[in-house]
Parts: sequence; C-alpha cells; structure tokens
Amino acid sequence: MIAELKNVSKVYKTGDQTITALQPTNVKINEGELVLIIGPSGSGKTTLLSLIGCVIYPSKGDLYVDGNHVNEMSEKNLAKLRRENIGFVFQNFNLLAPLNSFENVAMPLQLLGIENSEVKIRATNALKMVDMWDRAKSLPKQLSGGQQQRVAIARALVSNPKIILCDEPTASLDKSSLDVVMNELRTLAHSGKAVAVVTHDPRLKKFADRILEVENGFVKDIKNENFNE
Ligand SMILES: Nc1ncnc2c1ncn2[C@@H]1O[C@H](COP(=O)(O)OP(=O)(O)OP(=O)(O)O)[C@@H](O)[C@H]1O
Ligand SMILES: [Mg+2]
Repeated sequence: MIAELKNVSKVYKTGDQTITALQPTNVKINEGELVLIIGPSGSGKTTLLSLIGCVIYPSKGDLYVDGNHVNEMSEKNLAKLRRENIGFVFQNFNLLAPLNSFENVAMPLQLLGIENSEVKIRATNALKMVDMWDRAKSLPKQLSGGQQQRVAIARALVSNPKIILCDEPTASLDKSSLDVVMNELRTLAHSGKAVAVVTHDPRLKKFADRILEVENGFVKDIKNENFNE
C-alpha cells in the first residue's frame, strides 16, 4: 500500500462558513491498481485526490504516503515528496502559458536536477506516448483542450512517479485518445504504479480495478464488477 487515509477528514473555512469537503474516511491506495473516483460535482473528489497527492493537509485523522506521516511533514518536505513520487494531472491542466509542450513536459525533470541529454530523451518519449510530439513547439494557447490535456498527462508521467493522480483527464478527449490514455494508465498501474483517476465519465469504468464512490463527502469503496468487460 502506497497511501492510506485513517479517519481523514477535510474542512474548509471561508469567512464564517465551514464546509466539510471530506467526512472521516478510511481508504487505501495500492500499487498495481487503477482506482476510479466517481461522484457528483462538489462531492469531494478533488479534495480526496489532493490529500493523496500531498497538495493539502488533512484537517483530522492520519494520512500516510509512501511511508511518511503527512500530518507531521513541513511544507518543504511535502513538496519534495510530491516532486519525487507523485505525478498530478490537474482538473484545469495547469500548463505554464509561456512554455511550449516540450518545455512543460521537461519541467518536472529539470526540477529533479536530471541531466539535459536525459531530459531530452524522456520528454520526447513522453510526448510521443500521448501522440503530441509533432506539437512539441506549440504553446498551450495554440493547442485544443484535448491536446493540452495530453501534454499535461505526459508531464505527469515523465518523472516515472510511484503515484499517478488524474483529475478528469479524459474530459476533452475523443474516443481514440481516451483509449490510448486509459490503456497507458492501466499498463502503468499493472506494472506496479498506483493510479487514481477522478471522472464523471462512465466510459472509464471498464479500465478500473476498484471504484471509490464519493457523495457529499462520504466515500464508498467498491470492487469493480465491470472490470475487463
Ligand atoms: N479551497 C477551498 N475552500 C473552500 N471550499 C472548498 C475549497 N475546495 C473545495 N471546497 C468545497 O469542498 C467541496 C468539495 O469540493 P471538491 O473540489 O472536492 O469537489 P469535486 O467532487 O471535485 O467537484 P467537481 O466534480 O465539480 O470538480 C465543495 O463544496 C467545494 O466548494
Ligand atoms: Mg473536482
């Protein structure tokens, strides 16, 4: 098991309003597994993914990621854990506007201090994997939504992280791009990575080993009956 939530909850306070985004939750994320996180808008899916991805701290409960007790870690060490172990595809892609596709994908490797010749090989391979090598020099604003999404996926995979977290990675993808991306994520999971994908898209169910259903901050863990259908 690579990540574990033990009675983890998340409460947001804005002004005088308190929102419980995640009720106390017990969930394990395992290597070798593709987990789908589904549920209505505002139910807590991104919150759950952000906790697993060490982007936010729990309000209560204990969170463990790759053997670390996240509650007790400094922001600096948390950032290091993210850089080295976690690939994140954000809901809004988060590509850096002044950088082209290649530079966006190369960025995580440069942050890890990897040598330039190696960066070039790995960023090239990652862009080829999502079929975006021919647009390596394009800026995000010159790309369609689906193309930006594919670059964001290449960027999440390029550093070979143990945990790959995707927030709606297929929302702007057509059927053939979706199959390419989901088959690649499934291959990565079955080669020993932990992969979690947030989605509204029922087409993704057949790729999942396990499904976490989130509703109103409550998480239900179900084994996927449609697996390999
Ligand atoms: N930074 C924040 N500050 C205050 N409230 C927040 C914050 N982030 C999320 N929330 C609230 O927490 C609840 C869960 O949000 P979350 O983003 O996890 O939902 P979601 O399931 O990902 O929704 P969607 O499918 O629309 O992306 C929502 O009510 C949301 O408004
Ligand atoms: Mg969300």
